[in-house]
Amino acid sequence: MRHEFDLVNRELVAKAIGELCFEQVLVARPRDKKAGQDSRVLELSSGVHYRFNSEQGIWDFFVVEPESLERFADGQWRRDINAAQFFIDCQRECDISDINLSNFISELKLNLYSDLKLLQDRKAGGKDHFDLDHLASQNRINGHPKLLVNKGRIGWEPADLSLYAPEFNPCFQLFWIAVSHDLIKSHMSPCWSQDKVISSSMDHEEAQRFHQVCREKTLSSEEFFFLPVHPWQWQNVLQTELIDWIWEGQVFPLGVFGDDYRPQVSIRTVSNITRPECPDIKLALSIMNTSCYRGIPAKYIDIAPELSQWLQSVVDSDSLLRGRVAVLKEPAACSFQHPQYETLPDGAYRLKEQLGCIWRDSVASTIDDDEEAILTACLSHIRDDRQCLGSHLIESSGLSPAEWMRLYFEVVVLPLYHLQVSYGVGLVAHGQNTILVLKENRPHRLLLKDLQGDLRFIQDEIPELDRVSGTIKSTVTRLPPEYLIHDLITGHFISVLRFLSLDLKRDIGFAEGRFYKILADVVRNYVAGHSYPERIKRMDLLRPKIERVLVNKVKFKLGYGDLQERPVPALGDDLANPLGGE
Ligand SMILES: Nc1ncnc2c1ncn2[C@@H]1O[C@H](COP(=O)(O)OP(=O)(O)OP(=O)(O)O)[C@@H](O)[C@H]1O
Ligand SMILES: [Mg+2]
Repeated sequence: MRHEFDLVNRELVAKAIGELCFEQVLVARPRDKKAGQDSRVLELSSGVHYRFNSEQGIWDFFVVEPESLERFADGQWRRDINAAQFFIDCQRECDISDINLSNFISELKLNLYSDLKLLQDRKAGGKDHFDLDHLASQNRINGHPKLLVNKGRIGWEPADLSLYAPEFNPCFQLFWIAVSHDLIKSHMSPCWSQDKVISSSMDHEEAQRFHQVCREKTLSSEEFFFLPVHPWQWQNVLQTELIDWIWEGQVFPLGVFGDDYRPQVSIRTVSNITRPECPDIKLALSIMNTSCYRGIPAKYIDIAPELSQWLQSVVDSDSLLRGRVAVLKEPAACSFQHPQYETLPDGAYRLKEQLGCIWRDSVASTIDDDEEAILTACLSHIRDDRQCLGSHLIESSGLSPAEWMRLYFEVVVLPLYHLQVSYGVGLVAHGQNTILVLKENRPHRLLLKDLQGDLRFIQDEIPELDRVSGTIKSTVTRLPPEYLIHDLITGHFISVLRFLSLDLKRDIGFAEGRFYKILADVVRNYVAGHSYPERIKRMDLLRPKIERVLVNKVKFKLGYGDLQERPVPALGDDLANPLGGE
């Protein structure tokens, strides 16, 4: 037990040193380079030092070997490593106040609790590490790759974690409520209806029980919309937050009904495991997970079905995207505009997003029998003692690493880039939003999801956006092209490929220079024939320098108080682009 706790602490401190040096918050000095060993020391102004072995990656960062970490204090080097103590040691460098640091440490402990569960599962063996089941594989990944406390669900206690957190692999039924149409807005694509909302979450017999309960309370769909809520949200938030309308007869609790659901790694999106072909449901959860509260912002809901339908029509009409990309469409959505909090423009966003749902095509309903689908984050996050999933797939695909990666770039990176430069559409392409479909362990297709807030348009008026309705245009965030491109550079290159390329080097000796040369070739071939050279110039993936985006530094500064809006990242010094040059 003691050993496991030591290990999760070491892993967290190793990640913290690597990412905080990448964010230029800390500076670790190289020590002697013995027999190819990259060893460094971190000297902190508190007088405490850390020394460790590391491996240099191509993106001006290094990965720390957890087992090698030692701490110097009171005149002695020791092997005791404690994550909370580490942040106290480097408080000054992190420029974090006592109040923020104490909250940070409290969140960190929640993180360690879940890390231990993941570690124990990893060690228990018996399971196939490289099982490609979409849900099982994502629930074994190690959280956000850049944010240091990436499994701290503030608001949840251990009992909640074991009932609802993805690493505990729980399953649960949803709680249903009836809300007066005066309070809730629902939006459906033409083939959806209130009946479909119900039948997609429960079988015929259960639906009859559901309707019986509604009849007993004399609730009809003419007056009320029936929707599921996360059981934790009902129990801990909505019973009190909706108290006015419960007592006025505009909101009725109906009870627990229907199929079993399991959380995806994003926590608030749950998948139907009784009938996997039924849609996933994204629900509001008033807990702080990684950087923000995970509610459902009403402003995107009005456009959900239309936006995903439009994106699918773009894909269907484009020869580069057709057959290579599919959108996990969002055929229905509903939102609640809080009559009181919404009147306070500068009020806490957390309180405005407590209720709402998005129904989204499930992966199981989108892939064929001979296909498998994994989050791209799984490629480097999932590993056994010898190698990561990416290396395993390459070895078992019958392709060389170069052939496999070229295919990956053509299947994943090119469509995302094409959407940006040809249609002005940016999707935050981090490893949890991009789903790689494999056939015979080779990259085959890309699935896109998470369009509410994570899809943005180019700021310029371009003809490709003419067909988009006024409502969509006025709702979706517009960004200058130089910013839009970061959905790919920061979202995918730095958050997914940065780690994968170093893993492939370590596991199977595939040089990082070669990895990025292939990517640059794929991009170069694409831009050579492009009809909008001026757009390419402003969305240039091959430029020598790119911006370094910082997330932890922002969190140290903003802390844990309520905010009016979700936090936005800051910038550090530019990075040398491994795709640049030539
Ligand atoms: N490797 C990863 N990269 C990014 N996010 C991750 C990763 N692993 C876990 N996560 C978690 O997934 C969520 C990503 O946030 P994002 O806003 O894209 O998703 P979401 O809107 O909550 O859910 P969904 O993608 O299901 O619509 C966060 O809760 C984050 O902590
Ligand atoms: Mg997401």
